[in-house]
Amino acid sequence: MWKENPIVKKCNIRFPIIQAPMAGVTSPRLVAAVSNAGGLGSLGAAYMSPKEIKEAIREIRDLTEMPFSINLFAPASMPYDKKSIAQAQKFLDYFRKELEIPTALPDFSALPEFEEQIEIILEERPPIFSFTLGIPPLPILQRLKKEKILIMGTATTVEEALLLEKSGVDAVIAQGSEAGGHRATFLDLDYDPMLGISALVPHLAYALKVPVIAAGGIMNGDGIASAFALGAAAAQLGTAFIACPESGAPRAYKDALLHPHSMATIVTTVFSGKPARVLYNKFVKEMQMKNAPIAPFPFQNILTKDIRTTAAKFNRADLMALYAGQNYPLVTNLPAGEIVPLLIEQTVSAIQRLSQNLIESHILEKKSEKT
Ligand SMILES: Cc1cc2nc3c(=O)[nH]c(=O)nc-3n(C[C@H](O)[C@H](O)[C@H](O)COP(=O)(O)O)c2cc1C
Repeated sequence: MWKENPIVKKCNIRFPIIQAPMAGVTSPRLVAAVSNAGGLGSLGAAYMSPKEIKEAIREIRDLTEMPFSINLFAPASMPYDKKSIAQAQKFLDYFRKELEIPTALPDFSALPEFEEQIEIILEERPPIFSFTLGIPPLPILQRLKKEKILIMGTATTVEEALLLEKSGVDAVIAQGSEAGGHRATFLDLDYDPMLGISALVPHLAYALKVPVIAAGGIMNGDGIASAFALGAAAAQLGTAFIACPESGAPRAYKDALLHPHSMATIVTTVFSGKPARVLYNKFVKEMQMKNAPIAPFPFQNILTKDIRTTAAKFNRADLMALYAGQNYPLVTNLPAGEIVPLLIEQTVSAIQRLSQNLIESHILEKKSEKT
């Protein structure tokens, strides 16, 4: 079955399971463990300097000979509004006081340049490149294609998916509203329709010629089987891998996922300036209740960095950005190399269980029709 799967074929992997790129969380060890287990490991490299990306790719290659993917944020113009940045910065002092840290001068010059990041990717030629938050310039996509790098883009609506297909991507990741982390949305609508994967995946599977990868709230084989039923060729799982020993997430983040205290997730701009799904904690609550001024992405992300990193150091999950999908209570802390075969086993048994039940009830119905 898997050999005929279009994502398995295109990516040259064993199973149609992708460990989602997660900037700040995915490590070369995690990527390699997933790829070695037959899935596709992906490195979220958006916040990494070109040098760091190069080193990470080399480290992945030392740990696996299997295909892997590198992921970046598509470049976007950043309106530098001094006033809104100053207001947001001033408000955040409220949390700095609590953590007893001084107001740091934010270093915007440290922002990695997409053009420089992509040059390293063209040089190192990972087998697969994926992106989110937009579409990189077409000449860059053409250069990646020339290097025989497979390209995947992320969509949250049919309109975005059609633009991605037109740009020449080899597969589209359908990111449902259940997903943890930043919403991939890049077309400005008056509102966000917040399509879940049960609405988004069938739409995309119908509208596109390229294969569709379902992402959002998938944590086990039942979720993967349902993604296939909806028309997806593969499933991309992020939150399911955050608490793995190989993940780079801080201890307090892993603990918050593993011991949920009935916290719900929420989509908010308070951490980075862009809508992202996180666990609802004290930081989100206070920012929302006090109607805090928020600088546009990526400035808000830079402004909150000292608070997030200090909070992580002191195990203060209540002041950290705990990106998580809606199904996070199903997370485990198994090693990534064990999660992949488990997911495959669960998927096969979910499909068997469903088809068996259907066949049995169908036979019973036929029998009762005859009598
Ligand atoms: C901590 C975290 C960081 C993420 N960072 C990225 C990223 O750098 N690039 C990207 O394309 N998607 C990113 N995502 C979104 C994932 O690719 C994927 O859509 C999401 O994890 C799927 O939902 P799930 O977490 O419920 O499995 C991130 C998600 C999480 C949870």
